[in-house]
Amino acid sequence: MDKLVVRGGNPLTGSLTVSGSKNTALPLMSAALLTDGPVTLTNIPDLKDIHTFRRVIEVTGTTVDHAPDRHTMTLDAGTLSRAEAPYELVKRMRASFYMLGALLGRMGKARVSLPGGCAWGPRPVDLHIEGMKAMGAEIDLDQGYVVASAPGGRLSGGRMRLEPSSVGATINIALAAALARGGSVIENAAIEPDVVHFCQMLEAMGARMSGVGTRTLEIEGVDRLEPVDFENCPDRIEMGTYMIAAAIAGRPGEAVEIRNGRTDHLGDAFMEAFQWTGTRIGKGDGHITVTPPDELRPVSVTTGIYPGFPTDLQAQWTVLMARCAGNSKVHETVYPDRFKHIPELQRMGVNAIIVGDEVVIEGGKPIQGTSVMSTDLRASVSLVLAGMVAEGETHVLRVYHLDRGYERLEEKLSGAGIDITRVSYDEWADPS
Ligand code: EPZ
Repeated sequence: MDKLVVRGGNPLTGSLTVSGSKNTALPLMSAALLTDGPVTLTNIPDLKDIHTFRRVIEVTGTTVDHAPDRHTMTLDAGTLSRAEAPYELVKRMRASFYMLGALLGRMGKARVSLPGGCAWGPRPVDLHIEGMKAMGAEIDLDQGYVVASAPGGRLSGGRMRLEPSSVGATINIALAAALARGGSVIENAAIEPDVVHFCQMLEAMGARMSGVGTRTLEIEGVDRLEPVDFENCPDRIEMGTYMIAAAIAGRPGEAVEIRNGRTDHLGDAFMEAFQWTGTRIGKGDGHITVTPPDELRPVSVTTGIYPGFPTDLQAQWTVLMARCAGNSKVHETVYPDRFKHIPELQRMGVNAIIVGDEVVIEGGKPIQGTSVMSTDLRASVSLVLAGMVAEGETHVLRVYHLDRGYERLEEKLSGAGIDITRVSYDEWADPS
């Protein structure tokens, strides 16, 4: 098992490069199943979740030629023959549930394991299933699997409203609706950049859609979709994470460059809150610069669906607030109990208290390096951020969580001046 050892105190300098978006690559890979020819995707990040999903897709008989070092993947579902997504793979990554919409849309049937929950509580898929039913799918739950079939082998268009607006449900339903007979309407659809970019790929394949990027997404089913080559967008959460890292660990008055990211994918709520801290943002050709102030101002935030403050940046923001001179609150409205990082940060001396669905932070306290445990993807990166400005050494354990969503993080941070190394360890023998 691996851990990251961070020796605090080095300033973040120079530049960081954002990789392709994990949460967009997964639906793009799913869309490739809707056609019977080769689809080449570029800017695909080399992450554990991508490798896991590739294995899920290969179970169907689809051939996948993956070049992780070139961030390129070619999928050919012309050989797709098995409408299955097995538990032993789906349990590793929730987004494998996209196989339900892709297989129902392409094959008219699917047998997909229900996904596991996440560290911060159950993650329901009721909206996904109701959406398939609205298109005429017959759904049974059999020993932890969703067994779905379309009468006559093809779904019919349907209308559904998502409450709450769900990224995953919007994507899953669109995967099924693109090849259905007739039109579908998704009300209160998610409008995250991940969803918009995925819809743009479907349109490039010949899907007939209107209202992309609005709360009412309309899809007129077609008889077939064509193979395309398509480029993935950059990872907005990695972008936001690096902006926060620069504000936390950069030298006051010295710009840190962040390349290949898109600030317009972060939403106004995050951009406004970030600038309220006093951190300055400059725009260059293909990059931005982030320049920390002499003293960071605390800014309370409330997470929300896009364009609200991203819940995936909530843990990272908490560490930024711990560096501010003053108190602040972080209110989580998307996922109850997404605070597993707080006890770990408390062990580092961060004065953060959970009060209901809020965290109250008293900033300005010194942060001490120690051993801390990752619990989920975004929590683990917040521990690395804290370690960067802690006194002494921080051992971030179980970084397999972090490897799900951050490509070569320790290499990128080392290249920007941070003292961070990956070390293998035996969890039962490790004295740290
Ligand atoms: C996506 O998860 C992301 N994952 C999450 O990122 C992200 O936190 C989340 O969207 C919110 O932005 C991927 O894209 C792979 P939702 P998803 O369905 O689709 C409720 C990361 O760190 N809901 O938009 O699962 C749900 O409980 C991950 O990269 C239902 O009630 O999120 C939540 O409260 C973590 N019923 C809300 O909707 C359903 O059927 C939003 O969830 C589905 C969801």
